[in-house]
Amino acid sequence: MITQKSVQEILETVKVEDIIQDFVTLKRRGVNMIGLCPFHNEKTPSFTVSPAKNIYKCFGCGAAGNAVKFLMEHENLSFPEALRYIANKYNIKIEEKEVSPEVLAERQRMDSLFIITQFARDFFSEQLFETDRGKSVGLSYFKQRGFREDIIRKFGLGYAPAKGDALTVTAKQNSYNIDLLKEVGLTSQYNRDFFRDRVMFTIHNLSGKVIGFGGRILQKDVKAPKYINSPETEIYNKSKVLYGAYFAKTAIRKQDECIMVEGYTDVISLHQDGIENVVASSGTSLTVEQILLVKRYTPNIKILYDGDKAGIKAALRGLDLVLAQDMNVKVVLLPDGEDPDSYLQSVGSAAFKEYLENEAKDFILFKTDLLLDDAGNDPIKRSEVIKDVVKSIAKVPDPIKRSLYVRECAKIVGVEEQLLVNESNKLVGKELKKRTEQQAKRKASRQQSDPNFPNPSDEPFFPTEEVGPGAMPVSPLEQKTKTLSGDEFQERDLARILVLFAEEIFDKEDQITVSQYLLGNLEDIIDDFDNALYKKIVHLCMERMANGESLERSFFVNHSDQDIQKFTIDMMSSPYEYSENWEKKWELFLHSQKMPDKNFIQDSLSSLKRFRLRKLKKMLERNQLKIKELSEGNDFEQAMIYMKLHQKIKSIHDDLAKEMGSVVL
Ligand code: CTP
Ligand code: MN
Repeated sequence: MITQKSVQEILETVKVEDIIQDFVTLKRRGVNMIGLCPFHNEKTPSFTVSPAKNIYKCFGCGAAGNAVKFLMEHENLSFPEALRYIANKYNIKIEEKEVSPEVLAERQRMDSLFIITQFARDFFSEQLFETDRGKSVGLSYFKQRGFREDIIRKFGLGYAPAKGDALTVTAKQNSYNIDLLKEVGLTSQYNRDFFRDRVMFTIHNLSGKVIGFGGRILQKDVKAPKYINSPETEIYNKSKVLYGAYFAKTAIRKQDECIMVEGYTDVISLHQDGIENVVASSGTSLTVEQILLVKRYTPNIKILYDGDKAGIKAALRGLDLVLAQDMNVKVVLLPDGEDPDSYLQSVGSAAFKEYLENEAKDFILFKTDLLLDDAGNDPIKRSEVIKDVVKSIAKVPDPIKRSLYVRECAKIVGVEEQLLVNESNKLVGKELKKRTEQQAKRKASRQQSDPNFPNPSDEPFFPTEEVGPGAMPVSPLEQKTKTLSGDEFQERDLARILVLFAEEIFDKEDQITVSQYLLGNLEDIIDDFDNALYKKIVHLCMERMANGESLERSFFVNHSDQDIQKFTIDMMSSPYEYSENWEKKWELFLHSQKMPDKNFIQDSLSSLKRFRLRKLKKMLERNQLKIKELSEGNDFEQAMIYMKLHQKIKSIHDDLAKEMGSVVL
């Protein structure tokens, strides 16, 4: 373990701009530096780096943090990995704390497995580029398939020689432990190489470490399988790996979409043509773990499977899983006999991209179409199709999205919508029952384990509806200006924290200020402020922050706008007053409110949460009306757009509500 002292030294030495400039081009703008945000797609730069504060912040997508956070997010490093990266860059010698011998042994073992796989990768690559047979057989094969040399190197392609134990013998000569080679599946128990006379594809984990290989046969018309792959090992868990993810993750996040193909060569081919947000399931059907891996980067998946029957079936098998994860799935069917690689090479990248755009079908509709085609006019088969499709629909967690699917599918299948509604409601009900039972069980076991632990859903932690505005703390300003509505009360609280504590440090580790935290999280809902003054204050803060100007309390106290000035002074000079009853009931909450100068962090957190939740609810209501209106007007395309929006808002809302311990409906 890295000692605290080393961590400190690293954090004190690192300059955020040094690190970020390894990945992003930055330009000076006043005291700050700006560039195109690497975390979302943008044309005008809103990614701001403050050398003075040693932090970055994107005003477009809200990404923010320090150098360590940047590395963790951008490069997918763990905390210690990020520290090591920085230490390496600045030549800081890391002090390691003693760890238990077991932990150390385990770590060393894992490390040595990665060292062995890396060795094998280098060996295969050397065979490909440096040996006669490798060049004439392997390299020429890749070149003939149109792979450029830089891509061949980037993806770690190689050649495994035909001689039965070349790798094993070379490893021995270089004093590698053959047992480890066996453990990663590269050498058999009889000391024979696992891969022989095949071109090699290296499989990486998310941080780029080599975890396994796939080997493709070169001769045609041989009985042996086209591909063989490393077996499951301690470092290669097939169901959790997507081929190419290491090279695709940044592009996936940027494009907010993941293209899923089947083959190694498809990934490489698309990547070479600039379509980098692509990963492969490597011929197996998709697993939940693989989907969750994608979900870390985007909820949007485009599945691009071979146009043959087997390809389609494979696509279908995985898809219900994706729906249950509340992701947006589209399917693109390639012309018969083509796979992504061959099709791309035959039509070129512009036409290929256009094809993806035009031919992408929403999964459920795709499935319905396909199954119906199969069923023909057979009534029994058709009713089975309906059941099947409804089952898929029932997996969609979002009720509005679900009902739109029902409607569209009913049209395609040619049955009464109500029939599908009933069918799907039943299934959904079943699901819900299962879930609530599980929840009840969990709750019971929680209470059993700690009877004193209050259940968050029994009583709201924060006073909500039931404590009306009248019962809320009342300041003299408020008494003068009549009672504020609940929403305005929350808005005022945010404005108060901003004018009083904007420049305070909100998060020591990330070096984020209160204003950065609040504004970063308010951006998308700022136009929902009801009260003009509070809205003005938030806008003002945003503007100044974007210009790198400070938000000291004195700025507001001396502001030329009388309303702002008055508000600030009011907030400074009038501590909250509470009714006794209120204080008793919400002791914990009040404790933080009572000493605003000490508790602005907790205040910011809770205030923002309450405010956001409320606004999100409103947005959902509005959105829902819009969807209803559009679908009644049969404008499904528009409705879909709003559904997507709805889904996004809903998931934010639900997460937040969960966090606050209220019940999600
Ligand atoms: N696959 C496998 N074992 C096989 C066949 C296929 O593991 N016997 C996996 C490989 O990961 C392969 C993917 O399934 O990349 C897709 O198979 P296929 O479409 O047959 O291969 P391609 O990748 O298209 O390879 P090529 O273009 O060289 O035929
Ligand atoms: Mn292929």
